Amino acid sequence: MNITYCENYDHMSQMAYDSIISDLKLKSGQLICTATGNSPTGVYEKLSALYKSNPEYFKAISIVKLDEWHGINANDPSSCETYIRHKILEPLHIPDDRFIAFKSDTDSPERECDRIQKEIAEKGPIDLCILGIGVNGHIGFNEPAESISAFCHVGELAKTSMRHQMVNDVKIKPRFGLTLGMADILHSKKIMLLITGAHKENITEQLLTKKITTHLPASLLWLHSNMECYIDSGSLKK
Ligand code: F6R
Repeated sequence: MNITYCENYDHMSQMAYDSIISDLKLKSGQLICTATGNSPTGVYEKLSALYKSNPEYFKAISIVKLDEWHGINANDPSSCETYIRHKILEPLHIPDDRFIAFKSDTDSPERECDRIQKEIAEKGPIDLCILGIGVNGHIGFNEPAESISAFCHVGELAKTSMRHQMVNDVKIKPRFGLTLGMADILHSKKIMLLITGAHKENITEQLLTKKITTHLPASLLWLHSNMECYIDSGSLKK
């Protein structure tokens, strides 16, 4: 894991953005898996700003949605779908035929996971996977547990995930999430993990011990050979 310690949120976003752009200069037709939430928002804003002057960078990229709340309508402001449409697809002008995404309001989430798994197999491998870490160490909706699923699956959400700020305004909190599995994530050619926020101090400290356990899904990222981790200093214990 190649760790970059950053002064603040903007510095973290800038460093991650620089890395993405230097890769896009080498290969434009990338399949990029994107997390939602606060951690990568600054990076997506910088990519959106670049689109205005250099749209050619984004002509050939495709997006995979990392995860989705189960039972929340796609049009709901709290869905991962809405986040990705507003912060990535619309500003970067990426059409739906270059977007692979779990449907949140499906009757059969398991079938939906099989569908996404097949699409990733056909269109993959993922070139870049952009991630945030949960306060409990989750990655996507791969929650800490005795064992975790390798591939796309419906996972029971941890209490901390049900309290995630994205679903603050949702009255009946989702209990399940659809997510790429840790093997799907680890099969990406490159992974980028963004860590920000004082509430992540404890989990960051645990991650940095380099001990690998399914009780801290993010620790499995230590197994990847092309893994960049950008840490905002606000997430480090003083
Ligand atoms: C969201 C996702 C989650 C978040 C994580 C951190 O698509 O996959 O694993 O990345 O909960 O969320 P933030 O960045 O909001 O602290």
